[in-house]
Amino acid sequence: MADELVPDWGWACILQARDADWAGAGAISFTVEGVSVEIAPGGAWKCAHALRADTAALLDLFLPWVATPGRLAIAQLGQSLDGRIATASGASHYINCLEARTHLHRLRALVDAVVVGVGTVNADNPLLTVRHVAGRNPVRVVLDPRGRARAEANLFHDGAAPTVHLLGEDLAPACARLPDRLVRVGLPRTESGFAPAAVLEWLAGAGCRRVLVEGGGLTVSRFVQAGAIDRLHLLVAPLLIGSGRPGLVLPPIDALDEALRPVCRQFRCGGDTLFDLDFDGAHGRFQQVKSRETRNVTTKHFNLDKRML
Ligand SMILES: NC(=O)c1ccc[n+]([C@@H]2O[C@H](COP(=O)([O-])OP(=O)(O)OC[C@H]3O[C@@H](n4cnc5c(N)ncnc54)[C@H](OP(=O)(O)O)[C@@H]3O)[C@@H](O)[C@H]2O)c1
Repeated sequence: MADELVPDWGWACILQARDADWAGAGAISFTVEGVSVEIAPGGAWKCAHALRADTAALLDLFLPWVATPGRLAIAQLGQSLDGRIATASGASHYINCLEARTHLHRLRALVDAVVVGVGTVNADNPLLTVRHVAGRNPVRVVLDPRGRARAEANLFHDGAAPTVHLLGEDLAPACARLPDRLVRVGLPRTESGFAPAAVLEWLAGAGCRRVLVEGGGLTVSRFVQAGAIDRLHLLVAPLLIGSGRPGLVLPPIDALDEALRPVCRQFRCGGDTLFDLDFDGAHGRFQQVKSRETRNVTTKHFNLDKRML
């Protein structure tokens, strides 16, 4: 192969890395179209062949968390410069450019489960499947503690991927299997809804170790506030909406040293900018929030047979 390697080649490497066992100490070699790349645990990579700059950026962006063992929760929000994720009437199609939407499909393809709040299901009727890139569909999870999701929503009927409808435990049995690859599960809830850590714990018990919290703003905010998110992808589009639904909203702080300061990398995503925020690598207040919240989690054991998903 004489030409520089293109992003499709890099994406095929990343998909292979997604399924590798990273618990061992050593680097792993993957071969795509006769060209090999060596990837070390943690994502450092080496390739003897020349890569296009956007192919190298793709590897740099994804491999640090794809080539890592253990659980991971990543969240994303596509927002305007003024931090809005939808208009006041709930319209969000499309704030971001095509490349940013492709990025979202890449995130879905790299995780085991994608989580959305019921507000998103009712506003967007989303499919939550992988369509813009090669890759498999994740398990789809709807957080609906009060049972207000529209029964006719596509994802409850299309059978395109296993789907979990999480309801308050007073509204649903512990676990019921329904047609169209739908599972309905009752989960304990507090006044502020499900504890994000309990949702992630339940998903881990069901075999989903990498989870994408895709939206909307309320859902991502609750997970971030609870210290349950390891990484946040903010895709910022160069437009000002000036009103509408906010993205991340956290409790007020008085001093800026109380602000969250994750480790931040920036990537161009078409006309948008992707901020890749690593909370796990951050220091200070966020780590204190994280460890406090994690300590408070009581591990629950769920009886869901992994094969149901
Ligand atoms: N730009 C983007 O990236 C993006 C992504 C997704 C969605 N959106 C847009 O965002 C809007 C919807 O966002 P939203 O913030 O209004 O709503 P949302 O986050 O989709 O859903 C919020 C609701 O989900 C339930 N929920 C979320 N977290 C929960 C938890 N930890 N425990 C229990 N229940 C939980 C609650 O339901 P109850 O109120 O019933 O308790 C909550 O009110 C739509 O307009 C959609 O188009 C944009």
